[in-house]
Amino acid sequence: MKRVYIETFGCQMNVSDSERIATSLSKNGYQMTSDEADADVVILNTCSVRERAEHKLYTRVGEIRHSGRKKPVVGITGCVAQLDGETLFDKIAGVDFVMGTRATGRVVNIVDAAFTQRKRLVDLNEREDEYDWTVADTHRHSPYVAFVPIIEGCNKFCTYCIVPFSRGREKSLPATEIVAQVEKLKSSGVKEVHLIGQNVNSYRPTSNEGLDGFEGKSAFTRLLRAVAATGMDRIKFTTSFPRDFRDEIVDAIEENENLCNWVHLPVQSGSDRILERMKRGHTISRYKEKIDRIKKSHRNIALTTDIIIGFPGETEQDFEDTVSLFEYCEYDSAYIFKYSPRPGTPAYEMEDDVTPADKTLRFLKLQETQKKIEQRIHQRYLKQVLNVLVEGRSVRTENGYTGHSTCHKVVNFVSDEASLGEVRNVRITEIKSNSLFGEVAR
Ligand code: 5AD
Ligand code: SF4
Repeated sequence: MKRVYIETFGCQMNVSDSERIATSLSKNGYQMTSDEADADVVILNTCSVRERAEHKLYTRVGEIRHSGRKKPVVGITGCVAQLDGETLFDKIAGVDFVMGTRATGRVVNIVDAAFTQRKRLVDLNEREDEYDWTVADTHRHSPYVAFVPIIEGCNKFCTYCIVPFSRGREKSLPATEIVAQVEKLKSSGVKEVHLIGQNVNSYRPTSNEGLDGFEGKSAFTRLLRAVAATGMDRIKFTTSFPRDFRDEIVDAIEENENLCNWVHLPVQSGSDRILERMKRGHTISRYKEKIDRIKKSHRNIALTTDIIIGFPGETEQDFEDTVSLFEYCEYDSAYIFKYSPRPGTPAYEMEDDVTPADKTLRFLKLQETQKKIEQRIHQRYLKQVLNVLVEGRSVRTENGYTGHSTCHKVVNFVSDEASLGEVRNVRITEIKSNSLFGEVAR
């Protein structure tokens, strides 16, 4: 049996695609391996959101080629594959096939062909209706947690972002299929689903079937309620787009215990002037109104964000506005990125005028600000009881377990009777830098 090793870069959508690729190959005569040196096929599922992610890909293919053993079949999938297509054969020596983001459903064909034909194979599947939505049933990152794509692609065209080009226009999966998938996962023992998409709250299916009878102005709110009604233990969703984030989403969370208390709402900049240049379609005051509603909730909703520093034209004042916004929002965590110009995006045509040294300074300052906020926020969790899904054993402690809370914090705890896949109440006793530590509450 030929063995396949998959390496995944980037977002949850890529993780979910890799899971589907692995499931599909393993059902069709291939065996998955976690040992790259042992693999007959190496698939690199790529991300193109920042330049560094692309560089990593070039380095990795070089390492595989020069590892001193018989070269495996090397396939490039994901966003870089979709964008660069067959030009990758000339850019990187040693690539055997290139498969785009919408061709995952046909991965077996291309891998089979790579063994029999072994020449530059390309499947970009430009037909947009062919994204493979099925949730992987055998090769997920966790037996208890499943990523369920509900919308793929992006129509927003924020000026810095390559995603609308690499993943194409927004496509929503019918609600009936999403609900059916969640029900199936539930009966197979899954305790937590993440409804995923570049902008989940822009969810707009072609028919309302499956949403009738569920309250809400937007299809997404109604979908949340429909998924909650399946009785799945825990439901998380990411990523939300600020402009489309309605207060009624918070209402739905408040009315359904199994809709988890975590919202990821990327703001990208704290300055209206920069938001305008990014074409984000919202202002800081509108964003703050949404944050106020989230913070006001009795559900104690954790809030996380993404931010880009050093966008073209960002002044010291714009950056200070971002720092103030962080103080205002008190995010539970924030992914901070230095602006990276992506060829083909409108921002690529703007002058990348914040110097690398200033980008680094601003990055470090914001990171420091966020660290202090996190310390403050984490203190508030002390003595609280959090509901934790037991996802794994801790390697460091005997009887140690690790999992996520409903507010998506990593919680480590010791117990002599907990089991994997259970949901437990854990009292937080200690705060560590990136995680919480606790004991099972009696
Ligand atoms: N440069 C830096 N960060 C970017 N992101 C997207 N495009 C770029 C870029 N060109 C960040 C955004 C987005 C996250 C997934 O990646 O913050 O929310
Ligand atoms: Fe990129 Fe903006 Fe779409 Fe997010 S919403 S994927 S940042 S274009």
